[in-house]
Amino acid sequence: LDVTQSGRLELKAQTGKTVFAGGSSSPTLGYNQGYLGPFVRARQGQEVAVRLQNDLDEPLATHWHGLLVPGKVDGGPHQAIDPGKVWEPILPIDQPASTAWFHAHTFPHTARQVYAGLAGVFQIDDGLDADRGVPHEHGVDDLTLVIQDRRLDDAGRLDYRLSMFDRMHGFQGDRLFVNGAEQPRSPVPNSIVRLRLLNGSNARIFHLRFDDGRPMHVIASDAGFWPKPVATDELRLSPGERFEVLVDFRDGREVALITGPDQNRGGPGMMGMMSNIRSFASGLVEGDQRVLSFHPDGRKGRVDRLPDATGDSPASRPTAFDRRRHFRLDMMLGGMPMMRGMMGDGSGPSMGINGRPFDPHRINEDIALDTIEHWTIESDMLMHPFHIHGVHFQVLTDETGQSPRLENRGAKDTLLVDGRAEIAVRFTQPAGKDTPFMYHCHILEHEDAGMMGHFTVS
Ligand code: C2O
Ligand code: CU
Ligand code: CU
Repeated sequence: LDVTQSGRLELKAQTGKTVFAGGSSSPTLGYNQGYLGPFVRARQGQEVAVRLQNDLDEPLATHWHGLLVPGKVDGGPHQAIDPGKVWEPILPIDQPASTAWFHAHTFPHTARQVYAGLAGVFQIDDGLDADRGVPHEHGVDDLTLVIQDRRLDDAGRLDYRLSMFDRMHGFQGDRLFVNGAEQPRSPVPNSIVRLRLLNGSNARIFHLRFDDGRPMHVIASDAGFWPKPVATDELRLSPGERFEVLVDFRDGREVALITGPDQNRGGPGMMGMMSNIRSFASGLVEGDQRVLSFHPDGRKGRVDRLPDATGDSPASRPTAFDRRRHFRLDMMLGGMPMMRGMMGDGSGPSMGINGRPFDPHRINEDIALDTIEHWTIESDMLMHPFHIHGVHFQVLTDETGQSPRLENRGAKDTLLVDGRAEIAVRFTQPAGKDTPFMYHCHILEHEDAGMMGHFTVS
């Protein structure tokens, strides 16, 4: 859906039936279609008038993940719309070119709704890709890949039965889908191709690489372009994160993008032990898995060389902060929930931040508009992809110390926290107390279990 001309985006959340694996069709949810949403393309500087109709039989909030828009149109859990109702936010698109997305955000049903298909891509263009020398022909040499893991039951239907293990680790599937197709084979021109990678999984962390070891040249992450391409053999992609990479297919060889196993299993302690008990951990995959393969079909593409520069030189790291805050992510509020679960009392775990689960009626922080804050985020037994609405941030330190790992070098909105990370957050968008911004773990089962908070900006 190219809205760059009309400035209008019509979305209908609807139920659908989708055939995933040749078997019977599966009940699914989608925007304007049975599963997932349309690819939306907007332009920097425009206003997009959205009309979102909820044709589901349950409430639905839809959040624009990655858009820098005010809290009143952000679509967090405070803005759920009832069945049959319409929501008409106007989105001022005023931020660098980037690959954002939109997805269900209905507390506490986000995980189930996204899993069923309520997610789509929202691309922001600035019209400068030709000058940059990066591929930009959507569907030809500029491919958007929404990567998701799923489980299917024996009849081939989407399976979302949560064991206590799934509630603790987040739900993982043993099969991989790209834009809703299982391990597809994609034709590409024999040229440099741009891949926009989005991890749309509920919980699984991908470790992407090509099976022949060819490099990916990273040109952008969550919030926009990097100054120049940076080559890497492997890219870690946690739920909610996006990267754009250039790949050279000029040799004409067929090649597969694969992922190594998710390593977010909790180390030697209790969590790690549970990961090894197969009857608990039915969705975990041990070895490498093919995500999709690329088949150069002889077409001559437009871009034949890697660009030297793709963005402005990086903003210097802020050194002075208006305020410091500390966030401790906690999976164990109220004791050992997996024990409670195994004893069969049926209740899920209660998770939180700074010792409290998400409370829709209690704002956690009031932040001053146009300030820069220093946030320290600490994870507990697992790594947690920490996302903040309404901001872009810079990673100051991560688990590697002072100089962040490759994935964390650009401006971001989602960061996989492995132990402890410090970030510089710039607050440029207002959010009032009725429609505050959220921060939360993007393992969606964790978010629904309460690992989320909300703040105003004024
Ligand atoms: Cu992508 Cu608050 O979410
Ligand atoms: Cu967001
Ligand atoms: Cu988490």
